[in-house]
Amino acid sequence: MSSINQDSVRQSLSTVKYPGFSRDIVSFGLLRDVAVSGSDIGVQLVLSTNDTGIAKTIHAEATAALQALAGVGRVSVKIDVQAPASSPTGVGPSRIEGVKHVLAVASGKGGVGKSTVAANLALALAQSGARTGLCDCDIHGPSIALMFGGANERPTADDENRIIPIERHGVSLMSMGFLLDDGSPAVLRGPMVTRYTQQFLRQVAWGNLDYLILDLPPGTGDIQLTIVQTVALSGTIIVTTPQEVALIDARKAISMFGKTNVPVLGIVENMSFFVCPGDGKRYDIFGSGGGSREAAKLRVAFLGEVPIEPLVREAGDTGRPVVAAHPNSAAASVFKGLAEKILTDLK
Ligand SMILES: Nc1ncnc2c1ncn2[C@@H]1O[C@H](COP(=O)(O)OP(=O)(O)O)[C@@H](O)[C@H]1O
Ligand SMILES: [Mg+2]
Repeated sequence: MSSINQDSVRQSLSTVKYPGFSRDIVSFGLLRDVAVSGSDIGVQLVLSTNDTGIAKTIHAEATAALQALAGVGRVSVKIDVQAPASSPTGVGPSRIEGVKHVLAVASGKGGVGKSTVAANLALALAQSGARTGLCDCDIHGPSIALMFGGANERPTADDENRIIPIERHGVSLMSMGFLLDDGSPAVLRGPMVTRYTQQFLRQVAWGNLDYLILDLPPGTGDIQLTIVQTVALSGTIIVTTPQEVALIDARKAISMFGKTNVPVLGIVENMSFFVCPGDGKRYDIFGSGGGSREAAKLRVAFLGEVPIEPLVREAGDTGRPVVAAHPNSAAASVFKGLAEKILTDLK
């Protein structure tokens, strides 16, 4: 008697990861239909990207996973490509109306300073005269509202029922932190998170922007997948610290964006060194040169080293990122340099 049934098929498919991501194809909702007839299996998957490379990889891996089931007969895997509801122009990633460039700031590991880089880059771009927005896509652990001192602000809606972003230091902001009462991390289930992410990108009245910076959560999970599948990104900036543990995860993030054809604009190394105010000596607290070595190895640009500066943390905690609060600090000048590179790379 064959032990193959709907459950064993699902279980076997849930070992197949979406290319480049930590999430599997079943939990991401790609499995549309399973038909088991005796020992024969037919499954139908639905994809929201028209990238044929991704469809091919998933097809091959799903087929292999099912063929590995004991006592299996014929296996047929069909993949349908369907535009996500939120993609108005058809299949695959689409532009955000009125926005010239959408730029994601990502990392593999948490706590490496992604939000700090995203916030200060946005400020430096705005200071140079570019119309800039910053969207906090870390739905579970938002920090942009706090960093800009706006945790008590509540956004309002326009006539078309779109959320009007909060304006701070010339940057248009959206963050879950503006919607939560106590700023506590949002406990939300997968589909809700995807919905919020879509709303932040599509139902916010961003207006005409030169740059919309997306502050992503760490890792390669749902939110990242939703974003790369539905939004046309001009590029991504990867933030890491110099340690190997952070670099390993940065590599994963870079590979995820590579697989989905998003250009990696480069690596920023944060917390690179500390200059002791007493003796003026440089201390490489987390080691040195990891970011630039990794960038060279992966053939992506190295965008700069941000020193560890107590001012950076203080400024972030008190609601005025360092570029606004201490424009002459060493860290601020690195962020301004980063903004200049972006301004030249993405016109
Ligand atoms: N270069 C830096 N110098 C000092 N503190 C920093 C620096 N970069 C980040 N921090 C602090 O480290 C903590 C984590 O940074 P954050 O930007 O929130 O990381 P992530 O978004 O990657 O989780 C924050 O308290 C932040 O102020
Ligand atoms: Mg963050």
